[in-house]
Amino acid sequence: MTGLAGIIAGDTAISTVGKESAGLTYRGYNITYLVDHANFESVAYLLLYNKLPAPEELNLYQKKLMSLRRLPEKLLILLKAIPQTANPMDVLRTGVSMLGILEPETPESIDKLVAILPVILLTWYQGQEVTNAQITTADYFLYGLNELRVKPSDPLFSKALDASLILYAEHEFNASTFAARITASTLSDVYSCITTAIGTLRGPLHGGANEEAMKLIQQFDEPDQVEAGIKRMLSEKKLIMGFGHRVYINGDPRSPIVKDLARQLSEKVGKQKLFAIAEIIENTMWTEKKIYPNLDFYSALVYHCIGIPTSFFTPLFVVSRITGWLAHVIEQRSNNKLIRPLANYIGPEPRQI
Ligand code: SDX
Repeated sequence: MTGLAGIIAGDTAISTVGKESAGLTYRGYNITYLVDHANFESVAYLLLYNKLPAPEELNLYQKKLMSLRRLPEKLLILLKAIPQTANPMDVLRTGVSMLGILEPETPESIDKLVAILPVILLTWYQGQEVTNAQITTADYFLYGLNELRVKPSDPLFSKALDASLILYAEHEFNASTFAARITASTLSDVYSCITTAIGTLRGPLHGGANEEAMKLIQQFDEPDQVEAGIKRMLSEKKLIMGFGHRVYINGDPRSPIVKDLARQLSEKVGKQKLFAIAEIIENTMWTEKKIYPNLDFYSALVYHCIGIPTSFFTPLFVVSRITGWLAHVIEQRSNNKLIRPLANYIGPEPRQI
């Protein structure tokens, strides 16, 4: 099989993925424990500084991230010049590139990148800099999205978004993380590593799947249309987005967590029919292909129920995965070897002109 499937491409001390005994862990902590007992900022701290912060450390770190939610003037001007028709993933990629031009890398760049991505996204979206006193990334995002309303975000919306940011934060050598490591292995700068990762995540086989999954769910008006519709797509060899995984053959451990949040939210906002449609898609994929949903499938429903525009789903993946990407860049640099595999040549034999 190609795509480096099953190939161990290096060591990491950051997470375990698909290791039956350990399950999905970040720096040794199981993901279920982290969703139940931590928040996104403490998980970011864990990934970047290799320890869960004590309450005072967390408070200081959240205040530091808040203080870093400031855009350089020229970046603000650039974001206002980007048309509203742009793909938000391209806005993030461009914003990170411009930040790298304006603020060459220092040790401060790591926390700055964690703090600034939602600011780049929301400032472009609102056409003005979104600065505010929301202490968590989830609340800042909901505040900035909801037309700058001062109304505090719904506690379930905050909890669900924060949990989703934890679930998306890190996942070993996935395509975008490995791409960032390859860039880091050439001793390039951190902004180039992150620009590489954003571009890689954008693809529908990777991070872009959560947006495609929402479009799939929405194409059905009634639950009784779903089974036949999915079977028809499968017969036409179409991919059902939000399903399958290169590593998880027996199910993505993140999916049950995010599915439960989707169930709660769909009931709260009166979108039970969408949840019913999603479950029939899941059941049909199991009966027809024995393929499970990955994190992206029910994450789409969580974001939709919270009122997040579909085109912001993959950018939210970036707002979270920046923490895993940076942890891997730091790890690659700490024991670096240029990443350069071999190829199997299948071209023409040597030829004379
Ligand atoms: C993420 O790597 C990570 O950790 C990624 C990620 C992370 O946190 O970073 O978990 C996030 O990217 C999750 C994946 C999101 N992508 C999608 O949901 C897109 C749809 N999924 C498929 O494209 C696919 O499942 C992949 C790309 C995710 C994995 O595919 P593989 O391992 O390359 O396997 P494959 O494509 O060779 O599929 C094997 C068989 C094929 O059938 P046959 O040709 O053998 O008959 O399973 C079928 C595929 O057609 N199949 C699907 C399917 N996924 C696999 N058929 C229909 N719909 C699907 N989604």
